[in-house]
Amino acid sequence: MHCYKIAVIEGDGIGREVVPQGMGALEAVGRRSEISFAWTHFDWSCERYLKVGRMMPQDGLDQLRGFDAVYLGAVGYPGVPDHISLWGLLIPLRRAFQQYVNLRPVRLLGGVESPLNSFPPREIDLCIVRENNEGEYSEVGGRLYRNTEAELAVQESIFTKHGCDRILRYAFELARSRKRHVTSATKSNGIIHTMPFWDERFAAVAKDFPDVRTDSYHIDILSSHFVLHPDWFDVVVASNLFGDILSDLASAVVGSIGLAPSANLNPERQYPSMFEPVHGSAPDIAGKGIANPIAQIWSGAMMLEHLGETTAAQLVEKAVERVLLRSDVRTPDLGGKATTSDVGQAIAEEIAGMK
Ligand SMILES: NC(=O)c1ccc[n+]([C@@H]2O[C@H](COP(=O)([O-])OP(=O)(O)OC[C@H]3O[C@@H](n4cnc5c(N)ncnc54)[C@H](O)[C@@H]3O)[C@@H](O)[C@H]2O)c1
Repeated sequence: MHCYKIAVIEGDGIGREVVPQGMGALEAVGRRSEISFAWTHFDWSCERYLKVGRMMPQDGLDQLRGFDAVYLGAVGYPGVPDHISLWGLLIPLRRAFQQYVNLRPVRLLGGVESPLNSFPPREIDLCIVRENNEGEYSEVGGRLYRNTEAELAVQESIFTKHGCDRILRYAFELARSRKRHVTSATKSNGIIHTMPFWDERFAAVAKDFPDVRTDSYHIDILSSHFVLHPDWFDVVVASNLFGDILSDLASAVVGSIGLAPSANLNPERQYPSMFEPVHGSAPDIAGKGIANPIAQIWSGAMMLEHLGETTAAQLVEKAVERVLLRSDVRTPDLGGKATTSDVGQAIAEEIAGMK
């Protein structure tokens, strides 16, 4: 029996509703797979920020260092500016722990209707590999002449050779375990320094993977292709901002953002990796008990995969698919009437009863 030490940060809004369902699914799979979890809860959130002025304690990162993984809901809530919640918790964690890969699978599951409606299940099955440590989300820049007519803001993007090469290399390696096709998201026509550099690094890294087919599209037409031809793609590698936007778009294409999981990976395993849904804290539905917990549960499956528990991960994914395919237990974002806990419970029961 292996026991994994998991740090749990429910965060804000629906994070507090979907994380318990994710833990329930993981507990259910643990009971049949000779694995268990030692959960340690951290109340790091906007609520905490409002009380004590910090999203997490000063030594927060040190407190997390010894865990096998971090299981996160979402942060952000009205009353606390979004840049505070993001830069006070999520981004420092991704950076300090060198979680430079943000892996976001996108799959049309059986039993879910895509708004595009013309693709059979699994015909859409791609993976977005988002650079997670640098790019457009940088602290370099500033404001001048505040509160005058001359006020200005400068925001620098940071693209390093090291940062580009390691994410591109990860994407190519991943493609080798899939359909051997990598698409790069660029914008080298409009952004004349960083994006041509990204293209150059893409071409250079591609040379080491002659068995992998490559494509490159500007982000504007790539967005259009995601809607009209999502079946064209296998692995899509993108900078921090482009990857962030593409993954919300892709989640809509496969039915709901409530189905989109994500992993913040430190592939070298020097630090804990972090698993969280693509979605945020959804203040508009928080407290109503109707948030779809599947993105959180699927993120838990990604955590199992990362921990080397492939069979257990597959069990969770299969249970999600079966519940969607064989029952009408689904939350309102998928056209159903079920609550967050109805869906969580149905998936946990499916896991427990699966042959
Ligand atoms: N990783 C994170 O913690 C993260 C990511 C994105 C946004 N945020 C934060 O979340 C807050 C809200 O941001 P937003 O509104 O732009 O994005 P959001 O993802 O929270 O919500 C967008 C829309 O999708 C719906 N939605 C999201 N998750 C859902 C689910 N599981 N089931 C059903 N519907 C769901 C919401 O109801 C809302 O209408 C902000 O404070 C933002 O900064 C945090």
